[in-house]
Amino acid sequence: MTTFAVTGATGQLGRLVVRDLLDRGVAPADLVAVVRDEAKAQPLADAGVQVRVASYEDVAALQAALAGVDRLLLISGSEVGKRVAQHGNVVDAARAAGVLRVVYTSLLRADSNTMPLAAEHQATERLLADSGLPTVVLRNGWYVENYTTQLPTYLQVGAIIGAAPDARVAAAPRTDYAAAAAAALLDDGTDTAVYELAGPAASFPELAAALSEAAGQELPYRAVSLEDYRAGLLAAGLDEGTAGFVTALEAGTANGELDGPSTDLERLLGRPATDLRTAVTRLLTPLASRADVVTDAPDRYAKQLVSHLGRRAEFTTEGPESSAQIGSGTARVVVGDGVLTLLAAGPGEESLARVEHVLGSHLERFGARNELVVQWTRSTDTPAAVTPTGA
Ligand SMILES: NC(=O)c1ccc[n+]([C@@H]2O[C@H](COP(=O)([O-])OP(=O)(O)OC[C@H]3O[C@@H](n4cnc5c(N)ncnc54)[C@H](OP(=O)(O)O)[C@@H]3O)[C@@H](O)[C@H]2O)c1
Repeated sequence: MTTFAVTGATGQLGRLVVRDLLDRGVAPADLVAVVRDEAKAQPLADAGVQVRVASYEDVAALQAALAGVDRLLLISGSEVGKRVAQHGNVVDAARAAGVLRVVYTSLLRADSNTMPLAAEHQATERLLADSGLPTVVLRNGWYVENYTTQLPTYLQVGAIIGAAPDARVAAAPRTDYAAAAAAALLDDGTDTAVYELAGPAASFPELAAALSEAAGQELPYRAVSLEDYRAGLLAAGLDEGTAGFVTALEAGTANGELDGPSTDLERLLGRPATDLRTAVTRLLTPLASRADVVTDAPDRYAKQLVSHLGRRAEFTTEGPESSAQIGSGTARVVVGDGVLTLLAAGPGEESLARVEHVLGSHLERFGARNELVVQWTRSTDTPAAVTPTGA
């Protein structure tokens, strides 16, 4: 029996990796989700996964969390500037706990990449090499979601403004990187490797065409100089530091740092990586579903649900209907006669599933004694506009 652990398991990539491992037959009891916020991990606990709480800052908690773990996926943290120390804590804890393999999510061609994000990944790769732990490095390219979540801005501006007109980006959706990470954890034969993970490369005019098609509105790619790009970010309200950082990423993009061969990703996936147009369509297609829950107290359950979720989503109530944004999707709770209707909508499967899960799992918990069952049915009543918010 092999015990697997995933850090950042409540994050967007981590959740997908956990789901992938379970779908591939890993028993929930053999899977440890290392999280910093236990409340956020409730859905994982509900699925039978072992939830252990440890921040990347807390060496003792990390060591306890990794006890008995054979293979660990260290998902790079999101606190830029603090990550070398944080990852170092995880590496130390993994060594102390006797972990047999660490899989780490790095950055495409991290060893030579000049983008400002690369230094922390280079340093982490060095820490792993120095630790003597068998390590599989997943040098992940860009997420397609980095672009799809910016659609509201693109729509507002009426164009995609960039300073990399001749560059290609080999992006792939998170689902592909998650499947590759699950494969790297499960592969019994490979304890040490470096994979450069990238999707099929596309140009920015191709990205603009894919986004235009999904949004139903022409969004041309408009090239500007790096100087004007930075000025545009400042005019949009970014502070000097952030504008400089984002501009440096754009300079790296223009320099071809995000282009790369997709063969390693294909190899780990056992299929071609998802092409940009397919990924954009999947992520942005508006989807909706509904669940009609029969109950003699629809009003009481609606109030309970809205009040409980009020801590994570801002509900607006008008008459019998309450609505809120959850991630990039929308949730509606409608009180009827002897029925409580839940409506979920969002751009793409991921977003829809998140809204369904948040609404459905809470209502089922409140209604446990009355055995309320939430059964979602895909609705043809899809929302007209795609409004992702960059969840
Ligand atoms: N390739 C790309 O295009 C790209 C883009 C963005 C980021 N990334 C990198 O890939 C990683 C995963 O991506 P993602 O989309 O899943 O990001 P994400 O949704 O922000 O997830 C980051 C995860 O790291 C956890 N985390 C952050 N700081 C932590 C700390 N101090 N202690 C414990 N856990 C901590 C977060 O915990 P909570 O759930 O509690 O917040 C979250 O689960 C990112 O963190 C970043 O390093 C790559």
